[in-house]
Amino acid sequence: MTFLFNSDAARGAVFAEAFARELPDLPFSMDPAGVDPDDVRYLITWTIPDNLARYRNLEIVFSIGAGVDQFTMSALPDPVKVVRMLEDGIVRMMQEYVTLAVLSLHRQMPAYRAQQADRVWRTRPQPQAAQRRVGILGLGVLGQAVLERLKPFGFPLSGWSRSPRQIDGVACHHGADGLDAMLAETDILIVLLPLTPDTRGFLDARLFATLPRGAGLVHAGRGPQLDHAALLDALDSGQLSGAVVDVTDPEPLPADHPFWIHPNILLTPHVASVTQPESAAQAVIANLRRHFAGQDPVGLVDRQRGY
Ligand code: NAP
Ligand code: GLV
Repeated sequence: MTFLFNSDAARGAVFAEAFARELPDLPFSMDPAGVDPDDVRYLITWTIPDNLARYRNLEIVFSIGAGVDQFTMSALPDPVKVVRMLEDGIVRMMQEYVTLAVLSLHRQMPAYRAQQADRVWRTRPQPQAAQRRVGILGLGVLGQAVLERLKPFGFPLSGWSRSPRQIDGVACHHGADGLDAMLAETDILIVLLPLTPDTRGFLDARLFATLPRGAGLVHAGRGPQLDHAALLDALDSGQLSGAVVDVTDPEPLPADHPFWIHPNILLTPHVASVTQPESAAQAVIANLRRHFAGQDPVGLVDRQRGY
């Protein structure tokens, strides 16, 4: 029985040390060529390796990240469990990123950055937090953690998910019927949806038009959810006033892409949240212990649903 680590060596070294300390009876390898494929029961990876079929006794594929859209589920035999990465570091970093982004839009940083470039010293009317409605698409682990961080600022908060949710202090909406009502009352929209066939291209002209004029966007989900041309049109027409964009399609963006120089876009290179090896190793070890005890791992993906 072997745990195979298929990611960068620096993270692997941290995992190797934690596994040696906490699961000394489980062989750990970072060298696919050096293991008997029949021994590999657990694999951690970002993408599914081409030669996955050789691991005939595989039980669990762990994603090294929170998302699993990069996995081709059909490439995995049915009994194999897929587990996404849920660890404190990812959650904390996403809380930081989205809070920074929401506050940047709330305090009109794109406009002040443009003024700075033009050496303009001019104050702008500043709505208070209680007047700035913040809504979030995706009320999962990350969406809920972000809402908790935003609560103390006093923004009216709302959220949208596929199934009904109840969250203290948050107006919750769900399903196709609940979407437009929430969008129409959202001044800053945060996107933390997984990429599935239903959410691909979701951030389109129609969605932007449903937001109040001058709304802001924080996109930290996945690149293919965003229609780039629709965002540019919405910003250029004033329908949206600013966007913080962490994920794009493709990644990286080509050098001549308009997002790079758009005055109302704050662009980051998919860094909102990054797996932290120490806490990630602990999360995987805890999940293996659950698995050995006959329990489902935390972060078990519903392969039909795709998240
Ligand atoms: P999660 O716990 O699986 O939650 C997903 C949420 O999205 C759930 O509330 C789910 O609704 C909702 N949802 C899914 N499909 C929907 C649909 N068609 N209509 C309405 N709601 C839908 O995921 P998470 O851990 O919060 O992570 C969310 C995503 O963040 C990841 O999948 C990944 O793509 C992205 N991410 C980005 C970064 C970055 O650095 N930019 C880092 C980590 C993660 P239900 O509650 O009804 O299931
Ligand atoms: C990063 O985008 C992740 O899915 O962890």
